[in-house]
Amino acid sequence: MSSEHVVFFDTTLRDGEQSPGCSMTTQEKLTMAHALEDLGVDVIEAGFAMASEGDFAAIATITQAIRKPRIASLARAKKEDIEMASRALQFAERARIHVFLASSDLHLEYKLKIGRSEALDLCGESVRLARKLCDDVEFSPEDATRSDRDYLVEMVRIAVEAGATTINMPDTVGYSAPEEYGQMFREVRERIPAIGEKGVVLSSHCHDDLGLAVANSLAAIQAGARQVECTINGIGERAGNAALEEIAAALYVRGDRYGVESTIKLDQLYPTSEVLGNLITFRPSPNKAVVGANAFAHESGIHQHGMLANPLCYEIMTPQLVGVARTNLVLGKHSGRAALRHRLEQLGFSVSREELQHVYYRFVALADRKKNIYDQDLIGLLPDAIRMRRGEPVAELE
Ligand code: KIV
Ligand code: ZN
Repeated sequence: MSSEHVVFFDTTLRDGEQSPGCSMTTQEKLTMAHALEDLGVDVIEAGFAMASEGDFAAIATITQAIRKPRIASLARAKKEDIEMASRALQFAERARIHVFLASSDLHLEYKLKIGRSEALDLCGESVRLARKLCDDVEFSPEDATRSDRDYLVEMVRIAVEAGATTINMPDTVGYSAPEEYGQMFREVRERIPAIGEKGVVLSSHCHDDLGLAVANSLAAIQAGARQVECTINGIGERAGNAALEEIAAALYVRGDRYGVESTIKLDQLYPTSEVLGNLITFRPSPNKAVVGANAFAHESGIHQHGMLANPLCYEIMTPQLVGVARTNLVLGKHSGRAALRHRLEQLGFSVSREELQHVYYRFVALADRKKNIYDQDLIGLLPDAIRMRRGEPVAELE
């Protein structure tokens, strides 16, 4: 039995781009869109057409250059927003209008200042209008996870009846816990049979305020969601969105649990992360899963020894799987003799046990004083006799 496909909906250029330090010019957005196409995402949310002329221009430019992924524009549940999204998308090979409207009482009362029944009317009218303009319409009840459940179900039912082809239930403020988020998907699907009958796709959209965005997205997939919304390097509002690279790697490495497929080319994960890092003002933190600088780096002696014996001891996927060139055995004060010998051999020096012992003491003394040990530092520690065996110019290194 072939496994089901999960749609990767990338919102780096919309939810990601609207966060501090991440704004991009049209040209930069286009560069990123090409990288996302090469990565194999199914949908690119290219912007929010009504938000600015720049966003409109970026969406229109991307629709003309990118042909494989579907291109989406965000729109509030307003006639002018939906029409603007449609205009920005007019040259797309395949387009999507993504309409959102708050469903929590908090947002309805304080942000939109409208009542529940007015919001239901707006939902139906705007999805119907979007469907007249585009055959692919996504509807998001914003703040779904903090909405009264019966009311959320009512709003989703109206959106489905009005023709929404995807229903996205966002954890807008990153409040949900995985079991709870998954349960919301099960309940909505069970209470609205039309979702299954019409083949409406359920989608997750998670923010990382409690560090649970990826766990919540995976819980949604286990509960039947077949679209995940995510961003490269997890950029996005506040603590960010669910990180695309983490979801894609988890679905692959733990395929035994999730049993779904995607079109993501895993070996493009790191290169795509690099493209984004070069366009915005920050890179992922070194300990970021999958694409961080330390994701495949080992410094402690015990770990380095294990890695040299068998990489499976301390790595659950090869760096090459996600497009990283190699594992990095970092030499520092926690490193042991095995890693030191390995590095010396890579540099062309083979040493006896006694020589290694001698160099190791000098190495540990240096590592206690210095955070980074470079190859030149190591070579500098070698006695002349060893250096000359490789023909190093002894005097120059002194
Ligand atoms: O987080 C959110 O609720 C959103 C919606 C606009 C989908 O980004
Ligand atoms: Zn969001």
